[in-house]
Amino acid sequence: TYVVTENCIRCKFMDCVEVCPVDCFYEGENMLVIHPDECIDCGVCEPECPAEAILPDTEEAAEKFLELNREYSETWPNITQKGEAPADSEEWDGKPNKYPEEFS
Ligand code: SF4
Ligand code: F3S
Repeated sequence: TYVVTENCIRCKFMDCVEVCPVDCFYEGENMLVIHPDECIDCGVCEPECPAEAILPDTEEAAEKFLELNREYSETWPNITQKGEAPADSEEWDGKPNKYPEEFS
C-alpha cells in the first residue's frame, strides 16, 4: 500500500485525490489518509503530491504513518474530488514536527 505521511499535514494540496483510480483517500481537517486495504498499489498518486508526502509502505518514513492511515481512514469521510488547498499550504511544506502538533 501507499501511505500519506507527515508532510501532508497543513499542506493538503489534494492533487492525489484526482488521480486515484479506486477513490481510497479519506479527509481530515489538516491531512488526507489512504485506506491501506483499498489501495491497489498503482503508485500514480506518489509523483502527483507537490509535498512528496506519499510513500510506499516499504519506505522507513512511511512505517510510522501506516497505522494512522488505517485508523483514520475508518472514521474520516471519503474524498473523491479535489477541494481547495489551504491558503498557506506552501508555507507548511517541509516544516518539521507537524505531527502531532498540527495533526487532525
Ligand atoms: Fe490510489 Fe494508486 Fe495512490 Fe493507492 S497508489 S492511493 S490506489 S493512486
Ligand atoms: Fe496531502 Fe500531497 Fe495529497 S499534500 S493531500 S498527499 S497531494
